[in-house]
Amino acid sequence: MTAGMRTDGDRLLRRIGELATIGPIEGGGSCRLALTEEDRLGRDLVVAWMRDLGLDVTIDGIGNVVAVRPGRLEGPPTMTGSHIDTVRTGGRYDGNLGVLAGLEVIETLAENGVETEHPLAVAFFTDEEGSRFPPDMLGSLVYVGGLGLEEALDISGIDDAVVGDELERIGYRGVAPCPGPAPRAFVELHIEQGPVLEAEGTTIGAVTGVQGISWTEFTIEGQSNHAGTTPMHLRHDAGYAAAAIAAHVRFLALSMGDRQVATVGRLGLHPDLVNVVAGSATLTVDLRNTDEDRLVAAEQDLASFVADLASSEGVSISDRTLARFEPVDFDPRVVETVGTVADRLGHTVQSLPSGAGHDAQMLARVCPTGMIFVPSRNGISHNPAEHTDPVDLVAGCDVLLQTLLALDRADLNSEATS
Ligand code: GLV
Ligand code: MN
Ligand code: MN
Repeated sequence: MTAGMRTDGDRLLRRIGELATIGPIEGGGSCRLALTEEDRLGRDLVVAWMRDLGLDVTIDGIGNVVAVRPGRLEGPPTMTGSHIDTVRTGGRYDGNLGVLAGLEVIETLAENGVETEHPLAVAFFTDEEGSRFPPDMLGSLVYVGGLGLEEALDISGIDDAVVGDELERIGYRGVAPCPGPAPRAFVELHIEQGPVLEAEGTTIGAVTGVQGISWTEFTIEGQSNHAGTTPMHLRHDAGYAAAAIAAHVRFLALSMGDRQVATVGRLGLHPDLVNVVAGSATLTVDLRNTDEDRLVAAEQDLASFVADLASSEGVSISDRTLARFEPVDFDPRVVETVGTVADRLGHTVQSLPSGAGHDAQMLARVCPTGMIFVPSRNGISHNPAEHTDPVDLVAGCDVLLQTLLALDRADLNSEATS
């Protein structure tokens, strides 16, 4: 009987703690930007754990790592996983939970002598965060064939490093083909990274989908000049233009309401001196909405504001799309399975969409996919203060175990009906 089987929470928490010691930062989080030395060390640790469990580990051309435990039948695996790269100010749970919970599920099955029908895979995908090498979810995007390998390998990062070179350098440019084989189903456990579950007092989120993401980098060229002598009406101030865009996107999101969010997360001025009018500026805008039409409307509003601003300030403004993904709906059968399993295990559960991007949104292009959320204290993430109560982490891991077992037994060949 597998219905009463539970994962080993202490072992899961121990692994999370150990991985967090790689690239440690003040406040208890981690910095493992994609394809850095810290990322390599994190990868080496997780791959060693995969090998200790006797899994068949493959690495593909973009550095995605997939570890498979055989099932009774051959064929595509039921897959779980997430990412182990972090933002510069990462917490210890974002991504890592999903990968290490996948390992914990496999170890629990092995300990209990359970053979699944289908193979079971746990994966970690390269550069989910996209903060060093945009777009986000780069590895899973390539895995599902949404971007060609050669194009991905040529991407340069915020430090001018190149994906292909960095993969070679850290020893993770593998030989398994991209795109990779489609799993029969994919389910990812992740912290919510937002405030909803905590506010509602709910332990498990059955994630319905992921909102659309639009990232744009703007480069502004104005006229650098003396801060004391240049009359205001004669300025072509790139710093002012950057600030105006930042203020506008906040106003835009607030005035659109609903789920529209907008963020300026990077902003650089040149020459970046107290007494010099900035001659150039670079900034990024992150727009997200669960509704594609509204996201397009936000993009159009911003484009027209930027055109007017360039003309009124006498600066030139160019833009480059860093990421653009439409909203994704998960497979209702997987969403329902997560809800049913959580309920059966005695947890409170609610459905909700994801505000953050996830590898699952890419896998949803090729197989029935869903996600499981657990609460984030104060809704804080991408911050070393990110925290989820251990009891919730373990609850999520048990829901993952039972969801994977349910999907292993499910007939997923027919199309979802709703
Ligand atoms: C990835 O974590 C994102 O949502 O930006
Ligand atoms: Mn994540
Ligand atoms: Mn993240």
